[in-house]
Amino acid sequence: MKSLENPFILTSFHGKKYFCDRDNELKTLFSHVENDRNVLLYGWRGLGKSTLIQRFFDKLENKGQYETLYIDLLHCSSIEDVIKILASVIFDKYGRGKPGISSSMNKLFFVLGASVRFDPYSDMPDLHLGPRQSGREEQSLHAMGDFLQERKKKVIIAFDEFQEIDFFEDKNVESFFRNWMQKFPDLRFVFCGNHPGKMLRMYAEKTSPLYQNAQLIPLLPIQLETYRDFILDHFESKGKSIAEEVIKMIYTWARGQTYLIQLVCNYLFAQCTQVREQDFHRVRQEILEQYLPVFASFPKMLTKGQWNLLKAIAKEEPLFNPLSSEFLIKHQLGAASTVSTALKSLQKQELIFEEEGAYFVQEVLLSRWMKNI
Ligand SMILES: Nc1ncnc2c1ncn2[C@@H]1O[C@H](COP(=O)(O)OP(=O)(O)OP(=O)(O)O)[C@@H](O)[C@H]1O
Ligand SMILES: [Mg+2]
Repeated sequence: MKSLENPFILTSFHGKKYFCDRDNELKTLFSHVENDRNVLLYGWRGLGKSTLIQRFFDKLENKGQYETLYIDLLHCSSIEDVIKILASVIFDKYGRGKPGISSSMNKLFFVLGASVRFDPYSDMPDLHLGPRQSGREEQSLHAMGDFLQERKKKVIIAFDEFQEIDFFEDKNVESFFRNWMQKFPDLRFVFCGNHPGKMLRMYAEKTSPLYQNAQLIPLLPIQLETYRDFILDHFESKGKSIAEEVIKMIYTWARGQTYLIQLVCNYLFAQCTQVREQDFHRVRQEILEQYLPVFASFPKMLTKGQWNLLKAIAKEEPLFNPLSSEFLIKHQLGAASTVSTALKSLQKQELIFEEEGAYFVQEVLLSRWMKNI
C-alpha cells in the first residue's frame, strides 16, 4: 500500500503500519477461525470493529489458505438486499476481471436469475439480479452457500453492522441466516455489530442465528499507553513532536474512542510541527463546530425533559446518582419519577449507557458539545 502523508487514517485500513495494536483481538480471532468457531465482535461506535475485520482478513488472505468476504449490512432492509449484496461481493471476488465465467458461477447465476452486463460508460462488467429473485430467497442463499462451500480454500464471511437485521420488516430473516449456517457448516462467520446491549440481547435469543453459534469478542478502547506509543512514533518519524500530557488529554477527551483520537491526531499532525496544549484546544473546537448542524437535530428528536436530562448527564459524566435531589435541583430537572422515566427512555434509545453505576452520553462528540451549552 502507498505511504501516506498523514499517518492518522480516517478511512478504514491502509496497512499494518497505520494500524494500532489489537494484537490480542487478532490472536483470538485467529484461534476461533482456525478452530472452526464463528465470532460475534461487538462494541460501541467508532472503536475500530470494521477496521479490525479488514486487518484480520488481510492477514488471513496473506496466509494463503483462506478466502474472505466482507458484507456491509448498513444499507440493507430486507433479505433480498442481503442476497443482492452477497451476490455482488461474490461476483467482485470471483468473477469480475477474470477471463470468462466459470461453470460453477454460471450455475449460481442461473439460480439467482443474475446476468452480467457491460456498463456502456465504463465498459466494466456489472451484475444484475433479475425479477426471479423475489420469493426464492432460500434457493438463492443455498446456491451461494453451495458455490462458496465448493471453494478449495476455507471461506470466511463477515457480516458487518449485523444489528441492522433487527430493523428488517420480515422477521424471517433470522431463520434464513440460521438455516443457511446450519446447511453450510464449512463456512465460517464473523458477525459484527454496534450497541453492545442490543447485540447481547440478539445473541441470547433462541431464535437468533447467533444463539449458541458464535464466540463473543467485546471490542474495548485501545489502552492509553499503547496508543501513546503509536502516536509518538508517527509524529517522531516525520520530525514532529507532541507531549505525552497532550496525548493523555486527547485520549480522555475522546473517551478512548479510536475514531475521535485518530481525527484529533490527524488535524494536529497536519497543522503543527510541535503540538502544544493550545493546539489541541483549537483543534477540538474546530471539530465541534463542524458537527454543529448534526447536533442541532438532537433536541428535535427528544422531549424537553429527555433533552434536559441528556445535557445534565453530559455536564456531570460520569454521573453516579441521577435521581439524587442534589443532581435534580442543580439542573432543575423536576420530579424524580419523571426523570426516572426519561432516564429509561434515553437508555432504551442507547443515547446514554451505564457502566459500573456511572452514566455517560453514548456519542462522545455530542457529549462534549452539550457540556458547554
Ligand atoms: N487499530 C486502529 N489503529 C488506527 N486507526 C484505527 C484503528 N481502528 C480503527 N481505526 C480508525 O478509527 C476509525 C473508526 O474505525 P471503524 O470504522 O473501524 O470503527 P467501527 O467500530 O467499525 O465504527 P462504527 O461502529 O461506526 O461502524 C477509522 O477512521 C479507522 O481508520
Ligand atoms: Mg464499522
